[in-house]
Amino acid sequence: MIILKSTREIELMRKAGQLLANCHKEIASMIKPGVTTLEIDAFVDAYLAKHGAKPEQKGYKGYQYATCASINDEICHGFPRKQPLKKGDIVTIDMVVNLNGALADSAWTYPVGEVSKEASRLLEVTEEALNKAIEQSVIGNRVGDIGHAIQSYVEAEGLSVVRDFTGHGIGETIHEAPTILHYGEPNKGIRIKEGMVFTIEPMVNIGSWKSKMDDNRWTARTIDGSLSAQYEHTIAITKDGPMILTKQA
Ligand code: MF3
Ligand code: CO
Repeated sequence: MIILKSTREIELMRKAGQLLANCHKEIASMIKPGVTTLEIDAFVDAYLAKHGAKPEQKGYKGYQYATCASINDEICHGFPRKQPLKKGDIVTIDMVVNLNGALADSAWTYPVGEVSKEASRLLEVTEEALNKAIEQSVIGNRVGDIGHAIQSYVEAEGLSVVRDFTGHGIGETIHEAPTILHYGEPNKGIRIKEGMVFTIEPMVNIGSWKSKMDDNRWTARTIDGSLSAQYEHTIAITKDGPMILTKQA
């Protein structure tokens, strides 16, 4: 069942989303060689507490951290750790903010110092894929239009789209209906309606789209060791078009 949100509920989620976006801006200025993802996680914990919010991922299905920190070939759900980031790494920081019961979810991939040309192109294409998907998120379109926009663009750029993780509705809990595939065919799937709030979070790999799971049962990484990037926004469907609740100013 898809729970449609009122204008008021969307406004509360947007407040959570704005706090999350501001937190990402702080993270962007922290990321440099030598910083650890555990330090970033501790910063996020403190930043959210200072602003009266909670990290919704902590405790979710036994997950232990405020953030997911996925480095290089890690696709998603990497654990924050004390190994320092190195120049040339890419790192995806993903988090869900709970502000007064309203949730917002956004992931961003950061280059650590100067990165390779291939890596910086991966970041550009992945962010652009998200933007193209958001453009399709209008009343009357279907969720297949979102997936198709991502897949057709990414594959034309010679990169691949991860299949094993999807976007999702979000509301009182992190994951609700509908499921948002990052691949698919135009004009297929459920119709997009006013009041839907969901994430779009394409994960894009340089090599194969296939993933494998680490022994920790959380972290997914590329099967061929190639780099993987991800950009995620929470968006609300309104009469005036898609509203990006986690938009960074
Ligand atoms: N933020 C993630 C998403 O985009 C959810 C992470 S699951 C958790 O769907 F367990 F790590 F919290
Ligand atoms: Co997320």
